Amino acid sequence: MNKITINTAVPYDVVMERGLLSRAGELALGVSDQCKVCIVTDENTHRLYNDTVAESMALSGFDVYKITFPGGEMTKTIDYFSTLLEFLAENQFTRSDMLVALGGGVIGDLTGFAAASYLRGVGFIQIPTTLLAAVDASVGGKTAINLVAGKNLAGAFHQPKLVIYDPATAETLSHDIFLDGLAEAAKSGVIEDRELFEYILAADEPPFSEFVMRLVDSSVRVKAKLVEQDEHDGGVRQLLNFGHTSAHAIERLSNYDISHGHAVATGMLIASKAALVNKWSRSDCYSQIKTFLVRYGYDTECRFTPEQMAAAASVDKKRRGDTISVVIPLDIGECALMDIPASGLVDFFKAGI
Ligand code: GLY
Repeated sequence: MNKITINTAVPYDVVMERGLLSRAGELALGVSDQCKVCIVTDENTHRLYNDTVAESMALSGFDVYKITFPGGEMTKTIDYFSTLLEFLAENQFTRSDMLVALGGGVIGDLTGFAAASYLRGVGFIQIPTTLLAAVDASVGGKTAINLVAGKNLAGAFHQPKLVIYDPATAETLSHDIFLDGLAEAAKSGVIEDRELFEYILAADEPPFSEFVMRLVDSSVRVKAKLVEQDEHDGGVRQLLNFGHTSAHAIERLSNYDISHGHAVATGMLIASKAALVNKWSRSDCYSQIKTFLVRYGYDTECRFTPEQMAAAASVDKKRRGDTISVVIPLDIGECALMDIPASGLVDFFKAGI
């Protein structure tokens, strides 16, 4: 079993191997006594995997409760958050009980924030079932829900006790959802791991499971390195936001019709073009990132104007007072943070779009 330890204040493991869903209970016993567990899923993951995980948990002696939400970004609302908290209270969950997020980034973020808030904090396990959640969202302890004003505007840092990834889950993803995760993996490559980016760019139909394991393993290692240095996102961790200032604006402007990873792909293109035009980067990262987008069939056009993008990005949580931090690629494998005034966002987008 492949294991990566995330050395945050309280360290935890990310374990990955085919077939781990049916061993979830045994693995959970490594981080918790037998207790009540609430498995949180969306309708799709419920249908595919809930029985496997619930049976494994029950066989290991956990008292299993289940709650299922609709799929999609619209589930990360205060209403569903409240529904989850009330469910835990009605079923008398205590501080020694635990939540299990079984699903993609939406379920992980919602469940993690409920775990951070309920009784001022209970433990939770992440079982990501999308590539995007495996390469990024399930690791690092960022949890959140969306507000009407923008994405992830209410949340908490709350690290999971364990992350369990079964690469067989990637086989049931639609191509579009797979591309969501691939964009985040490519992002990890541009930030910190040139070999990973080049591997993705050159991959010549390797066995699917080998491809998925490489994407997850390398991306989690990049993330671990940055999160361990800056658990609470005051400095280098912000490099993981490469492409995200644009992405959050695109998602919101499209009413979440454009999904996160696709928006990140466009966001990386915008940031790298702005960096090229303004001569901030050392090499032409823009062409290489564009080659990645074209090769895998992402949309290379931004549907929104620089003015619309700037207005939407100005309520982003990456804003501090009148400045906003954007991530700029210097070279493939090396990025830097750059503070620009909120009033300069239009120029940034004019250069990038
Ligand atoms: N997804 C970016 C981070 O976890 O910091």
